[in-house]
Amino acid sequence: MKWNAELYDDKHAFVFQYGESVLELLEIKPGERILDLGCGTGHLTNEIKNNGAEVIGIDASADMIAKAAKTYPGIDFRVADAADFHFDEPFDAVFSNAVLHWVHKADDAIKCVYDSLKTSGRFVAEMGGKGNNAHILATTRQVLEKRRYPHLAIKKPWYFPSMGDYITRLENAGFRVTSAIHFDRPTLLQDGRDGVAKWLNMFGDTFFEGVDETEQEQIVAEITDLLEPYYNINGNWYIDYVRLRFVALREN
Ligand code: BEZ
Repeated sequence: MKWNAELYDDKHAFVFQYGESVLELLEIKPGERILDLGCGTGHLTNEIKNNGAEVIGIDASADMIAKAAKTYPGIDFRVADAADFHFDEPFDAVFSNAVLHWVHKADDAIKCVYDSLKTSGRFVAEMGGKGNNAHILATTRQVLEKRRYPHLAIKKPWYFPSMGDYITRLENAGFRVTSAIHFDRPTLLQDGRDGVAKWLNMFGDTFFEGVDETEQEQIVAEITDLLEPYYNINGNWYIDYVRLRFVALREN
């Protein structure tokens, strides 16, 4: 997936704005060494630093890391895969906001996090949980099927696990999960109905691979019309976000 760092910061700032409340769960103590896993354009990484921690931000997207490093030159940002990373010096905590649903190799990612933590280190994260984006996903698939793109309709760009699924994986890896919550968070899209196209453009481009631009616009307009009864509330458009949030401790 190719990330558009400008569109992300401009129209999807809610991703890191909502992440602020996840940061509170991290309860940073000055001097702690913290990893921001999937740091994107680095805004929350910078907040972690401003709370007195020594922080490293990693992200799979070189474009995101380039923008983060330009915006916050004093922070150590690196390109790395969430399911395949290693640090010699362990962390007091690993933080991750709105990233783990992109990581299909969940057990590999959880193992990398576990191995990178000190004993009693914290893993604090929020991701899309079961039911996330259910309307936009079902509608996109329905329109792609109708237009004879069944190979696109079956794509699964994200992994939205249930609480039982993810917590079991964490426990199997050796974590003790001290809190977890799975909750609805309807999220305001910027630019009203145009927000659907912008969201699909930013996050869902894999569904439109090989579709020419004109037909893509028609498909997105059709999806938007079908979503209107669910997403348009008095002129404001809300996408159906469902979050899974947890705090887990490395036991040994
Ligand atoms: C999310 O944060 O839930 C999300 C973001 C982009 C694509 C899918 C889900």
